[in-house]
Amino acid sequence: MSKLLVTGGAGFIGSNFVHHVVAHTDHHVTVLDALTYAGNLDSLAGLPEDRVTFVKGDITDAELVDSLFSQVDAVVHYAAESHNDNSLHDPRPFLDTNIIGTYTLLEAARRHDRRLHHISTDEVYGDLELDDPARFTESTPYNPSSPYSSTKAGSDLLVRAWVRSFGVRATISNCSNNYGPYQHVEKFIPRQITNVIRGIRPKLYGAGENVRDWIHADDHSSAVLTILDRGEIGETYLIGADGEKNNKDVVELILELMGEPADAYDHVTDRAGHDLRYAIDSTKLRTELGWAPTYGDFEAGLAATIQWYRDNESWWAPSKDGVEAFYASKGQ
Ligand code: NAD
Ligand code: DAU
Repeated sequence: MSKLLVTGGAGFIGSNFVHHVVAHTDHHVTVLDALTYAGNLDSLAGLPEDRVTFVKGDITDAELVDSLFSQVDAVVHYAAESHNDNSLHDPRPFLDTNIIGTYTLLEAARRHDRRLHHISTDEVYGDLELDDPARFTESTPYNPSSPYSSTKAGSDLLVRAWVRSFGVRATISNCSNNYGPYQHVEKFIPRQITNVIRGIRPKLYGAGENVRDWIHADDHSSAVLTILDRGEIGETYLIGADGEKNNKDVVELILELMGEPADAYDHVTDRAGHDLRYAIDSTKLRTELGWAPTYGDFEAGLAATIQWYRDNESWWAPSKDGVEAFYASKGQ
């Protein structure tokens, strides 16, 4: 049994990871989360108290981080400002959390010689053309587009520097777009599902041709556990499940699965600097560490996610009106 510290464990992917760890290992988890607008303690409801401890706090608080690092064996770092649209509106919190927060954790990892796994995104590689057969690999040059992705790229480079300069025992993973339960309603798939539940037409940015490479959050969690167990220190692993789809097809599938006409959506103002296409080649993770995804059927995973939002309106309803007011102010 190991003691894990999970930063951002009350957010979307972090909370899915905590559920996965409790279900599949005997590790104890301490969650460190500032409970920003994106964090929700209800995402951890029902987990056994002897397996999960929650600490409310900020990853830029060096004293708190130092004391928590001294009590655990390893750290998985999910905490971040994560939404591109917010980063276009107000970049500052992205610099504070994604850059200074990651720096604060790296310094603690160095002081306490703790194993650290840094969670990152495929967006650090920029975007691909729609008709390009290429996919991102671990050797694709960094070329981030948005304030969000540039701060994630910066955090990755800090991790690499701390490994090389100070011998910090860290690994990095860059994953594609996640879907599943507990995702904030500001994000594409939950926004459209909850719009339909509320009788609002889904909103597609621009023509809807942009492609994202979808993976179920539970597959992301199993990949992270695999890297934590068997990953080589200093290495980067790309995580993806061959799930490329354009946004228009996803909206139409959501409408179809929810019993609405497939064309009952609106085109709205496009995102500034909108990345065209992401696509992950996860050969390294599959061949070197033996990982494979288990949620092969996107339609089935999406149907289960729709059912989760139907069953858990009390989880998302408090955020919905504020999110829609924000988007309306941007013509989105
Ligand atoms: P999220 O916004 O749902 O959750 C972020 C969590 O971090 C929240 O619980 C929030 O309260 C917490 N947090 C924010 N600032 C903090 C701070 N200063 N101190 C402590 N806690 C803080 O994000 P998510 O979608 O779950 O993403 C988690 C991680 O995974 C991020 O690092 C993101 O870059 C990465 N990622 C996300 C995706 C995706 O599709 N969502 C894909 C690849 C990588
Ligand atoms: O690729 C990994 C990244 O995926 C993560 O690093 C980010 O944290 C995560 O938010 C996600 O970023 P995206 O910008 O791809 O996700 P988002 O859900 O915001 O949008 C997905 C696509 O849908 C994108 O092309 C924009 C479009 N979109 C989004 C919203 C909210 C719409 O067409 N309509 C919408 O209402």
